[in-house]
Amino acid sequence: MINKNNNPIAFLDSGVGGISVLNEAIKMLPEENYIYFGDSKNAPYGTRTTAEVRELTERNVEFLLNNGAKAVVIACNTATSAAAEYLRNKYKELPIIGVEPALKPAALDNEEKKILVMATPMTLAEKKFNTLMAGYEKYARIVPVPCGGLMEFVEAGILDGQELEEFLRKILAKDLCKDAEAVVLGCTHYPFIKETIIKV
Ligand code: DGL
Repeated sequence: MINKNNNPIAFLDSGVGGISVLNEAIKMLPEENYIYFGDSKNAPYGTRTTAEVRELTERNVEFLLNNGAKAVVIACNTATSAAAEYLRNKYKELPIIGVEPALKPAALDNEEKKILVMATPMTLAEKKFNTLMAGYEKYARIVPVPCGGLMEFVEAGILDGQELEEFLRKILAKDLCKDAEAVVLGCTHYPFIKETIIKV
C-alpha cells in the first residue's frame, strides 16, 4: 500500500473564499502539505442549481484525487450543502470535510437575541442549513440573509470602498435586519470583507 502521509490535503471552493479556511488549517497543522483549487471559471456557485454545484464539486474532487489528495476539505458552504453527503457516499475511503455557517456558537453566545446569517441563496435554501437552523431557533432569533452578488466583490479583489458599502447597505438595511446582535459569515468569501461588513 502507498504511504499517503506526505500527500497533500486538498481545499476547494468556487473561488478564493476557501483560502480563509486554508489559512486556519495551516495555523493548526503547519506540518501538512496542501493544494488549493478555486473554481473561479465556474463561479459563483451560490446562484446555481444544486445539481450543477454537485456536478462541479464532483469533478473538482476527482481532479484533486488524481493529484494525490489524501483528504478533501470542501471549503465552501454552498458546495458542502450540495455535494458533501453525496461525495462521502461515493468515496468511502476518502476523508471529506465540509463547512457550515457557525450558527451553533452564534446562537449559544447570543441567547434570545437576533442573529443574521449572511450566505449564498443556495446555502440558505438547502435542507442542510434549514435543519441546522431548526436546531437553534429555540435559542435565538435567526434571520437568513441571502447575499447573491456579494462574493463577486471578493473575487474582483474589492474588499472595501463605496461601491461595496452601498451593496452591503442595500442587503442589510431591511427592517428584518434591524437590531441584530451578531452576524454569521456563512460563506467562506465573507471573512475577507469582515471589516467592511462591521462598518456598514
Ligand atoms: N465561498 C462559497 C461559500 O462558502 C460561495 C461563493 C459562491 O457563490 O460561489 O458558500
